Amino acid sequence: MGLGAIRRTALVTGAAGFVGSHLVDRLLAEGFEVVGLDNLMTGDLSNLENARRDPHFHFEIGDVREPLGVYAELIFNFACPASPIHYQHDPYATLTTSVLGAQRVVEMARGRPCTVIHASTSEVYGDPLVHPQPESYWGNVNPIGDRSCYDEGKRCAETLLHDAHRRWGLDARIIRIFNTYGPRMALDDGRVISNFAVQALRGAPLTIYGDGSQSRSFCYIDDLVEGIYRIATRAAFSGPINLGNPGEFTILELAKRVLSLTKSESQLVNRPAPSDDPRHRQPDITRARELLNFSPKISLTEGLQLTIADFRSRIVILREQQIANAKQGQSDNPAEVVARRTDDPSQELSLALTAMTAEAAACGHAHRTGDHMAAAQSFIRFVDKVTRLAPALEVAFGKGDPASNTMSQLVALIEQLCSAQQAQDTIRIADLLEYEMQPLLQGLCDIVAT
Ligand SMILES: NC(=O)c1ccc[n+]([C@@H]2O[C@H](COP(=O)([O-])OP(=O)(O)OC[C@H]3O[C@@H](n4cnc5c(N)ncnc54)[C@H](O)[C@@H]3O)[C@@H](O)[C@H]2O)c1
Repeated sequence: MGLGAIRRTALVTGAAGFVGSHLVDRLLAEGFEVVGLDNLMTGDLSNLENARRDPHFHFEIGDVREPLGVYAELIFNFACPASPIHYQHDPYATLTTSVLGAQRVVEMARGRPCTVIHASTSEVYGDPLVHPQPESYWGNVNPIGDRSCYDEGKRCAETLLHDAHRRWGLDARIIRIFNTYGPRMALDDGRVISNFAVQALRGAPLTIYGDGSQSRSFCYIDDLVEGIYRIATRAAFSGPINLGNPGEFTILELAKRVLSLTKSESQLVNRPAPSDDPRHRQPDITRARELLNFSPKISLTEGLQLTIADFRSRIVILREQQIANAKQGQSDNPAEVVARRTDDPSQELSLALTAMTAEAAACGHAHRTGDHMAAAQSFIRFVDKVTRLAPALEVAFGKGDPASNTMSQLVALIEQLCSAQQAQDTIRIADLLEYEMQPLLQGLCDIVAT
């Protein structure tokens, strides 16, 4: 894809996520041919509703940890769960997405006229001892804490990209993004703005972790995307760059502002602060100002109004969906919701099944040849994907459909695979994957395609 196109081609990994989807919209508006890649771990296809109507947008369900088969002049590597709830849910996936994802991007971009724009994070500064944080600060990070899968994964990805720049001249541009908020944030991502907005709109108490005196800086999504776009389109430069809004607010101030903007009468309740929760976070954006003339424009009140309006309408839609589902006896399982939201479920499922058939073959091969590292990584990825896809298949086809039988066999096979994995029986795993799982997935591909 992209070869021979007159328009410049950009690949966005993590395209269905909060930041990725806004970036996709901006790139399309700027006249790019855009390829979006996402494994839908935390992303939502509804974020791409506008983009998917644009013929210059192409979406692929895929994992950034796997070899990338897309040619692009610009690669925006944004795939990675970003909220603590999401990234702590599967620390292995979080860390490998950062590190292997960066490795795949380097492999793809090396030796080509290609610019890599990588989403790093203020979390690389950990619980900072320097305030505000300039790019020269090395950070204060716990390597084995609850947040380490994210913080250390992002730090390692920075190392990998920077070494590729030093060794092979890769044009890698690393952005350290500070707290960003706006429409399309997942309602349940546990980040402070989404928490407060959802709680206030539902009339539930606002949860303050700690005493609320800890401070944060909040950047509205449009300001961030403007900064990212300026970084991508300017002449090459070296070293990471902070993007964020330096305005600093205590969590208590934020809670009160959300209450006033939503006109909510919710109470405030205090809960213990989570481990490794930083006391302060504020970007020093001197470098971004000098290099990019970057200066955030949207005030916290203005940004919160836009965000709350979006949350309000999504909560209404969700409530209507829940009522309709209850009437039809459907559940609110996220995988099922994703499947229902998909414009063309058979196309999405077809893509996912094709990718999984290849994954089953690769995983079986790794087990048979004794490549333990690859086998272990591939196994976890594979089982995770199939497990998440099974409910989506059930919803797409419904009980009684020929696909349902195949799907039941698929779920039973996963159980056998997990037992074999526990027994470390690699030959049995290889046999199950190559002789049973692969034909089963192929069969499903055929059913979905017809
Ligand atoms: N939002 C912020 O405040 C913030 C702050 C600092 C850094 N960042 C970085 O920006 C990027 C986007 O964050 P976000 O807030 O949009 O999070 P998000 O969870 O909304 O989006 C991440 C997207 O990546 C996808 N993804 C996860 N693992 C993947 C994999 N292995 N292969 C393919 N896709 C995968 C998810 O499905 C999701 O669509 C992340 O890299 C994050 O670390 C965000």
